[in-house]
Amino acid sequence: MKTVLSGIQPSGRPHLGNYFGAIRPHIALGAGDDLCLFFIADYHALTTSRDANALRDSTRDVALTYLALGLDAKKAALFRQSDVPEVQEIAWLLACVTGMGLLERAHSYKDKVAKGIVPNVGLFTYPVLMAADILAYDSDLVPVGKDQVQHVEMAQDMAASFNAVFGPVFRRPEPRIPREEILAKVPGLDGEKMSKSYGNDLWIFESGKKLRQAVNRIVTDSEPPEVPKDPEKLLLFRFLELFLEPADLAEWKDRVRVGGASAPGYGHMKVRIAEAIEARFEPARKRREELLANPAEVDAILADGAERARAKAVLVLDRARRACGLR
Ligand code: ADP
Ligand code: TRP
Repeated sequence: MKTVLSGIQPSGRPHLGNYFGAIRPHIALGAGDDLCLFFIADYHALTTSRDANALRDSTRDVALTYLALGLDAKKAALFRQSDVPEVQEIAWLLACVTGMGLLERAHSYKDKVAKGIVPNVGLFTYPVLMAADILAYDSDLVPVGKDQVQHVEMAQDMAASFNAVFGPVFRRPEPRIPREEILAKVPGLDGEKMSKSYGNDLWIFESGKKLRQAVNRIVTDSEPPEVPKDPEKLLLFRFLELFLEPADLAEWKDRVRVGGASAPGYGHMKVRIAEAIEARFEPARKRREELLANPAEVDAILADGAERARAKAVLVLDRARRACGLR
């Protein structure tokens, strides 16, 4: 039995990129035979969060999202990162064997700095904490979207550095990304990678007018409907691909490729996208409402998940402490 681990930050509401790249594959893995641990990375969110209530609310929102979308929390452990404080100590042990150069090469850090974000020390050492998350549970597999692969590779490097100095303590984890490119890197409304930090994201449970307004923001050119077009080049089709059945999708593609008087315009495609998103998440939206009305149930699930996860982290930390001479 393998140990599967992943985390998701509670900064803003989970979006379609999080769903296809992370949450859906997590839930699928959670239904299998492996030991699955999924946590809400609230320590990581503090690299940017400055509002205690907002952090608490988003943390709960991520839990509700997983549960509403069908995570079986009796099998998979769902918990808050900060309920396992052992990871902080493991992060320190890893920080002490990690060169500055490794962290300076992190794409996500460099991207954020390039965007003008003034980094705090937490943002810089983010990958060390993430490595601690991964290594704390002897994880074998880390299912993430494409953007997080480098962080998992950094965890491999840190585990190897620690083991080289102090002996075999940490297990080597492997990243796993969705096989299809479109799922590993879902585009945002502007065609860039969908991300909370780019403001181009779409909340999984958006509905009604707000959903239609968001879908209307998906970028198009100004070609009229009758001009034949290559669907592979249209951002709208990336969204249709995520939501339509293959036969339905093929028909839309054909009509756009052929063009002419009966070809659908961009407005028409947007209506179809909004309908499809709304229909896909309707049952989960209802379950979410039920869970919202039952906070004690969610608290109990998170507490149980933390207890199971912590039992593992305590053992790994003990091993690491002994190896480096803290005991
Ligand atoms: P964001 O970029 O919006 O801050 P996170 O970094 O919190 O999202 O990502 C949480 C999880 O969702 C990670 O596993 C990440 O790889 C995945 N993910 C985020 N954005 C996308 C996307 N556009 N496509 C596929 N997976 C994504
Ligand atoms: N950095 C991840 C993200 O932004 C969240 C995360 C924190 C994570 N620790 C992790 C993911 C450990 C996988 C494993 O999405």
